[in-house]
Amino acid sequence: MLTAYLRQDEDCGATLEDQGRDDRFQRRSCVGGRVLSGMRVVVFGASGPTGRRIVDQAVAGGNRVVAVTRRPERIAERDRVTVVGADAADRRAVDEAVAGSDAVLSALGVPYGRKPISIYSTGVANIVLAMEGHGVRRLVVVSSAPLDPDYLASDSWMFSRILEPLFMRRPGRTTYEDMARMEAVVRSSKLDWTVVRSSWLFEADQVSDYRLAEGTAEGMYTARSDLAAAMLAQLGDERFKRRTVAVNTTAGTPGLITQIWRENIRGAGRR
Ligand SMILES: NC(=O)c1ccc[n+]([C@@H]2O[C@H](COP(=O)([O-])OP(=O)(O)OC[C@H]3O[C@@H](n4cnc5c(N)ncnc54)[C@H](OP(=O)(O)O)[C@@H]3O)[C@@H](O)[C@H]2O)c1
Repeated sequence: MLTAYLRQDEDCGATLEDQGRDDRFQRRSCVGGRVLSGMRVVVFGASGPTGRRIVDQAVAGGNRVVAVTRRPERIAERDRVTVVGADAADRRAVDEAVAGSDAVLSALGVPYGRKPISIYSTGVANIVLAMEGHGVRRLVVVSSAPLDPDYLASDSWMFSRILEPLFMRRPGRTTYEDMARMEAVVRSSKLDWTVVRSSWLFEADQVSDYRLAEGTAEGMYTARSDLAAAMLAQLGDERFKRRTVAVNTTAGTPGLITQIWRENIRGAGRR
């Protein structure tokens, strides 16, 4: 089913071992990646702002997509897109969605909340079970940069000591707790997984020369278009199998006030 490479960025040609060892970011990074076509890709969280981009980019790359959402009316059926209504917490529904696929991408997410959150770990556990049951090996899941204890969003004292705790770590505590459980589920599986940790998401129309780095990457922002592209690029990239990577955007990032207004107050990217 893996029929063709659509694009191979030259910067991604080297293996991790081939790249220089003096600088951690250089050693562990690449820009862009190969995108495979002709795959049947299941996307969880397909109606969300990142999920929609994954679906669009996957279809544009010549793949067929099974778009999973609890609200199928939010996604238009079109050529090469099959919309499946399923709750990720429903093991049987997840199993049916995953059957017959080549790869699964999860951009599942729920808003920050004080109550305990479980959908990341429960949903992904169901996905893992379904993939193992159907012999589907490639899994790419979204996680979050603050799960890395070494993560430094910004060297600004104001941001890292005041704003990040206020707008991310404190309200996101229950989210990060469940994301940590999700990452543990993924790591303990026998699948060819990649955990893609995103920084603060923002809206951008285009895919940029995003930075992809194993482990920690300094950086405050990730465009959803870049997150989607980085996740899809994993399908054609062997280097980050069974690894955790961070994806960051450096071009066209928003100002802090604009970002807080759009993402935390107005809720940008959501229909
Ligand atoms: N916002 C940030 O700054 C930030 C930073 C780092 C990582 N992340 C993570 O990045 C990912 C994408 O974020 P986003 O803002 O683009 O999307 P999002 O608004 O979190 O939407 C994710 C989608 O998940 C789906 N979903 C939730 N519960 C589900 C369930 N039980 N079964 C099936 N689908 C379910 C929802 O679709 P339906 O309601 O249609 O089912 C929703 O549209 C999320 O995992 C988020 O936590 C976000």
